[in-house]
Amino acid sequence: MQDDFLSSAIDLKYILDSFNKNVIFSATDLSGKILYVSDAFCEISKYNADELIGKNHNIVRHPDVPDTLFEELWRTIKAGKRWVGEIKNRAKDGSDYWVLAHIEPYFDAKGKHIGYHALRHNITNQKKIEKLKEEIESINEYLEVEVEKRVVEVVALNKEIRETQKEIIFTMGAIGEIRSKETGNHVKRVAEYSKLLAKYCGIDNYYAEMLKEASPMHDIGKIGIADSILNKPSKLTFEEKEIMNTHTTLGYDMLRHSDKELLQIAATIAYEHHEKYDGSGYPRGLQGEEISIYARITAIADVFDALGSSRVYKKAWRDEDIFKMFEEEKGKHFDPTLIDIFLNNRDDFLKIRDRFSDC
Ligand SMILES: [Fe+2]
Ligand SMILES: [Fe+2]
Repeated sequence: MQDDFLSSAIDLKYILDSFNKNVIFSATDLSGKILYVSDAFCEISKYNADELIGKNHNIVRHPDVPDTLFEELWRTIKAGKRWVGEIKNRAKDGSDYWVLAHIEPYFDAKGKHIGYHALRHNITNQKKIEKLKEEIESINEYLEVEVEKRVVEVVALNKEIRETQKEIIFTMGAIGEIRSKETGNHVKRVAEYSKLLAKYCGIDNYYAEMLKEASPMHDIGKIGIADSILNKPSKLTFEEKEIMNTHTTLGYDMLRHSDKELLQIAATIAYEHHEKYDGSGYPRGLQGEEISIYARITAIADVFDALGSSRVYKKAWRDEDIFKMFEEEKGKHFDPTLIDIFLNNRDDFLKIRDRFSDC
């Protein structure tokens, strides 16, 4: 019997010691004056019990905590109810710690309300993690916005570079044409016809657009031909014609060194736009599909526009004569499949001619 009592007393002491060590506990009177603190309370607040007993509980109050929280806390416990909530406290050394507090009124043996006691749970680490998460989230949000801004800038810059590139290429093409007394609109129309024909023969939009930009450069090599030959009013001699024909290889040599796809296509067009489907063209006498599709398309676009335009030195052909010539040259000068597509859609090409007319 006595043994039982002893062992119960030991158990109780053990429990109380453990409570004292591990539970952040305090008891106050009705005004909030501290009457008792556990060792765990002292440990976390870094005060010793003597420094706390008799002081108001707000000794550990952190200035960050708004008054409204304490007003609500006091309203609840004064009404005899339990208050549960997270509170940031300040320790003696100025560091802060977070607790999840359960505060409730307590009563004497006669049931008289004499004070409050509070049990707390240390949630400082959890709060630190939450704060870190918030910081990471806000950094992420900032980065997302910044990345988005940079992407928009890069896209705009790329667009500008591309537009500038187009402008330069177009101007280069126009220079070649102007030197041989063509108008600026000739290159515009050739560009549009080429793109349309490319689309009608199933070339995807990316390359149709590429062709539109590259085809105006077909005669860029004329920059290298002497004026006396380029603009000779009378018929060229055999030798002069030979020199004139070199505008294809000159153009190719000017453009072929670039690793840009657009300029590579332009180089091929400059090189092959006078090749003929039956192999009778120049400079290499390529045949059929040996000639790049881009050059075969540009050849039709260029001849169609040249014949349909009036120049100081020549009158424009009538449309029916132009289409008749294409019919006759099908499979000879021009790719027969492309000619069929072109002739079947002739009205669309005439519309482009009207849209970009010289007058
Ligand atoms: Fe040419
Ligand atoms: Fe041309």
